[in-house]
Amino acid sequence: MSKKVLLSGVQPSGKPHIGNYFGAMKQFVDLQDSYDSYIFIADYHALHSLKNKKEMKENIINVLLDYLAIGLDPKKVTLFKQSDISEHTELAWVFDTITTMPYLMRAHAFKDAEAKNKEIDVGTFNYPMLMAADILLYSPDIVPVGQDQKQHVEIARDTAEKFNRIFGDTFKLPEPMIIKNMEIVPGLDGRKMSKSYNNIIPLFAEYDEVKKCVMAIVTDSSGGVPKNVYAIHKLFRSEDELKKIYKEKEGKYKELKEILVEDIEKFVAPLREKRKEFSKDIPKALEILKAGSAKAKVIASKKMEEVRENIGVSL
Ligand code: TYM
Repeated sequence: MSKKVLLSGVQPSGKPHIGNYFGAMKQFVDLQDSYDSYIFIADYHALHSLKNKKEMKENIINVLLDYLAIGLDPKKVTLFKQSDISEHTELAWVFDTITTMPYLMRAHAFKDAEAKNKEIDVGTFNYPMLMAADILLYSPDIVPVGQDQKQHVEIARDTAEKFNRIFGDTFKLPEPMIIKNMEIVPGLDGRKMSKSYNNIIPLFAEYDEVKKCVMAIVTDSSGGVPKNVYAIHKLFRSEDELKKIYKEKEGKYKELKEILVEDIEKFVAPLREKRKEFSKDIPKALEILKAGSAKAKVIASKKMEEVRENIGVSL
């Protein structure tokens, strides 16, 4: 029996953080043996927040190195870049024509931008349509994401259903896959860890940077368990062990933070080493990406041909 299909992606909008890792990227690695996996770099998505050629290039390469360093094996996973596959933007347009504005106005990204009184670009408004195209071109069974992307996967599912209803059965309906207890990894201030909140611990930070971040975790002054420290700590140690440590060191926030720094370091150091190895041969990493994009292109173009046929533009 052929394997089920998994698809997901990360935006190269900055450094991936431990929220991205535990919320999503770790699942890509854990599931690569059991699923036919497609993992991509969502560079066109990042364009809505990043408008700098040099940074964009660097960030794309960084996400690629991160994917390799966390253990994604190019023999098992098709690693590709969104902008290499023009079918993503092509299909997004088709979806734009079957989706209403009031429907997209309910999407979180738009509502957040509106609440902040930001000038909202059309790309941000249409963002869920590009994401629907990313997903539906590859007919995945599951899409592992953090909680913040759940609504987008549901929009992809609704869009597939709507398209199928109008033009006939074309798309498989995808399911979001969200790991319990990792739905929302908290940041240094207890809110969701997010680049836009400036509350992250970068996944591949050097020791000193990790230390600086951990020391900046916001603690209350009640003298009990510092809940923001504990919430991050439990990503790196079992709760049984943690309960003992936090009881023994009750009220000693600095010492608890120092233990957390060491635990993060133990976890990150080997990954960082692997990443350094991969970064010594960028052309080789880019070859991997190119080969992955070529493979993805075959699948995406086949699906897009089916779409063109079903909407009636193929003659
Ligand atoms: P992005 O790049 O913001 O985040 C990548 C993944 O990390 C998850 N994540 C978190 N999970 C738990 N706790 C957190 N604090 C946390 N912060 C981020 C995100 O949920 C995501 O799974 N739009 C997507 C990228 C994308 C995509 C796709 C994903 C574009 N097309 C198609 C899946 C399928 C995004 O901005 O993720």
